[in-house]
Amino acid sequence: MATVRRACALLLVLAALTLLAGSAVPVPPLGNGLARTPPMGWNDYNAFGLDVTEDLVRRTADRLVSSGLRDAGYVYVNIDDAWMAPARDAAGNLQADPERFPHGIGALAGYVHGLGLKLGIYEDAGTKTCGGYPGSLGHEEQDARRFAAWGVDYLKYDTCYDGGVPARERYGAMRDALAATGRPIVYSICNWGADRVWAWGSGYGNLWRTTPDIRPTFASLLDVFHATVRVSGYAGPGGWNDPDMLEVGNGMTRTEDRAELSLWAMLAAPLITGADLTTASRETLADLANPAVVAVDQDPLGRPATVVSSRAGLDVLTRPLADGDVAVLLFNETGAAADMAWTVPGATAVHDLWTGATGTAVAARVPAHGVAMFRVA
Ligand code: GLA
Repeated sequence: MATVRRACALLLVLAALTLLAGSAVPVPPLGNGLARTPPMGWNDYNAFGLDVTEDLVRRTADRLVSSGLRDAGYVYVNIDDAWMAPARDAAGNLQADPERFPHGIGALAGYVHGLGLKLGIYEDAGTKTCGGYPGSLGHEEQDARRFAAWGVDYLKYDTCYDGGVPARERYGAMRDALAATGRPIVYSICNWGADRVWAWGSGYGNLWRTTPDIRPTFASLLDVFHATVRVSGYAGPGGWNDPDMLEVGNGMTRTEDRAELSLWAMLAAPLITGADLTTASRETLADLANPAVVAVDQDPLGRPATVVSSRAGLDVLTRPLADGDVAVLLFNETGAAADMAWTVPGATAVHDLWTGATGTAVAARVPAHGVAMFRVA
């Protein structure tokens, strides 16, 4: 009896803590076993908006292979909004736009799979997608079955036209519908950081957006970084904070591009390139593929970085890694170069992940808007 009373009291305390703190108590994880490290791949939206075609997806898949990005880990080829015909068919099924996707999604999945890649698709937990195409609200089971039958491996699920239905109901319905198909499908919650999604996201999806849409500017990168690093503690294997698709190669300077990649890797963020890979420069492709930076992002411990020092726009982030090493990022948000340094107790060797140099100190002159990234043994 005393044990039962103690258990009840403990439950009450846990419930009270949950209410008080918003969610100090961990949410039971999704349990689909996917995305034990952050997903990596490509998505068309940042570079092409609503102008996606089967031809673009095929050419991008080819380029992922020929550029070496597939072998660097970028395996998801994700189709964003506007792949659909404006209406469902007579049986209520979603159908691909017959002009832009003449061979349909199933054939495209087959092509992508043949290259050793995976196919992602987009839908919306509302009556319409953001681009105005048919939404999945109320059609979750039928649509999930359709995606699974096509061979889809990843679903980005947006939040426009939500019909006034609470987020967890909408996102939970598709989570359950995907699980019922029996096909492993990574589930990406795209609700723009609304409703403190980080506090419940791990029970619903494999990743969840922390902010509104990113843009290819340093100011936008800063907003997204600050909003995401604050909630680092909620992410881990199987459930990641998503600061949105990368803008590397979309118009920022190379210094800023490398800052974005490094920050995303420190945050254990999904690395989904939003560049036009069919025309991307050699520099963009090389930066995306940097194996030492990707290894930090994909570290199996899955513990995102926290800010250990921040003074007048000069930030230091550290991230513990599975083999006992520590990743350290010196980030200069300001408009002028700055000398920055950090001491890691017991450090034996320090590798600069962008210059390739090896030394004994974490120190660098960091350019305006730039980073220096180290792996400290
Ligand atoms: C929303 C999402 C974007 C993109 C567009 C497509 O804005 O946040 O990432 O998917 O919709 O319409």
